[in-house]
Amino acid sequence: MNNIKRDDNLIFGGCDTVELAKEYKTPLYVISEKIIRDRCTEIKDDFLNKYKNVTAVYASKAFLTLTMCKIIESEGLGLDVVSGGELFTAIKANFPLNKVIFHGNNKTVEELNMAIEYEVGRIVVDNLYELELIRKIAKRLNKKVKILYRITPGVKSDTHEYITTGQKDSKFGIPLNEEIISEAVKKGMKYEEIDLLGFHLHVGSQLFDNSSHLAGVEVALRLIKKANDEYDFVTKELNTGGGFGIYYSGDDVRKPLNYFTDSIMDLINDRCKSQGLKIPKVIIEPGRWIIGEAGITLYTIGSIKQIPNIRTYVAVDGGMTDNPRPALYGAKYNAVIANKVNKKKNKVVTIAGKCCESGDILIKDIALPKVESGDILAVSSTGAYNHSMANNYNKNTRPAVVLVNDGESELIVRRETYKDLLIREKLPSRFQDTEVNERRSV
Ligand code: LLP
Repeated sequence: MNNIKRDDNLIFGGCDTVELAKEYKTPLYVISEKIIRDRCTEIKDDFLNKYKNVTAVYASKAFLTLTMCKIIESEGLGLDVVSGGELFTAIKANFPLNKVIFHGNNKTVEELNMAIEYEVGRIVVDNLYELELIRKIAKRLNKKVKILYRITPGVKSDTHEYITTGQKDSKFGIPLNEEIISEAVKKGMKYEEIDLLGFHLHVGSQLFDNSSHLAGVEVALRLIKKANDEYDFVTKELNTGGGFGIYYSGDDVRKPLNYFTDSIMDLINDRCKSQGLKIPKVIIEPGRWIIGEAGITLYTIGSIKQIPNIRTYVAVDGGMTDNPRPALYGAKYNAVIANKVNKKKNKVVTIAGKCCESGDILIKDIALPKVESGDILAVSSTGAYNHSMANNYNKNTRPAVVLVNDGESELIVRRETYKDLLIREKLPSRFQDTEVNERRSV
């Protein structure tokens, strides 16, 4: 009986997801350590061990916990952080900070102080205001700071408008107008507190085609040549960003890493050779490609509402609070009923979240077997930009995160509690009513 039941249940990371839902409750993020490590192995085999003078860092904005820092460290990758909070997590995880790259278009003085004091490996400088801040802090702390300049390559990419970053009209990076970039390079070379090593670009996210990466690298190579010829600046490093696409639904197919990296490396090597330039160290920083497919989210199905001749809404116990991507980007997901994986899909339904918002629809029109309240829904590819973008709208509590591997499961982030929701609140004394508070024991 048990076996028969188990046959119908979704197994992920060797664990029965229906049992996980029972043990840890829902909504629940489940992360497969093996999938993360498999991606890292592919990075090592097809990039780090294949080419000389290359580095890979994991873009931690996709998913960051202390445990993730440990896995990434053990795989020998570096870490891209983009805020004091992400840096703090890396510090608390004892992550080797010389392998940390610090990004951001408006890093605060406090964040820069922290990054310089802790001697992060590189700061990717977004603008000249930031350069001056870094110089001042470095002078005070008596440090020399290794930097790259983030450039705006002016290329378009085929993805949602909100996640394209390389176009000319962008809040990210230094525009390549002559007067702006030449000032940046000259100052970077002149300032004693600064060690300008090269350039960084990131063209966009969730890309399946390498054309915008290559177009961006072309632009960077023109800049490298110009800097070499006109300012006598030798570029030591070129960071080509992340953005490699993964499977979410339908016809999406994750491309092997080398589809992107081989073409990038060929272009850089050929161009540098033909132009007599020193080949820079090449850095990549994938986020989603490493963690995206390593995560699923489990929900319990509650109300099922049939609107005759229109649609059936199947509501789950989470939604745009744990996965804001459908509402933000129109992102499409796939899902199965975790306790009915072998049952025939015979009905098209719409998966609704529980937030007080009509736009809180996780999946519009998905074919599923007969759905019943109490079933467990497993949404795939939720490893990236779900836990990290989760919020408390409607004072919903954020889910726990469980790491699965080879049939074992471990809690790595506990579920948020109602108490957590109020932990930062202060009630002015004139509103305090201790008697009532003491009587209520929720
Ligand atoms: N490097 C830089 C400088 C970036 O800005 C990003 C992403 C990455 C690397 C990693 O990109 P990935 O390999 O993960 O595509 N919240 C959006 C994605 C925003 C990405 C921002 N930057 C989403 O859920 O699709």
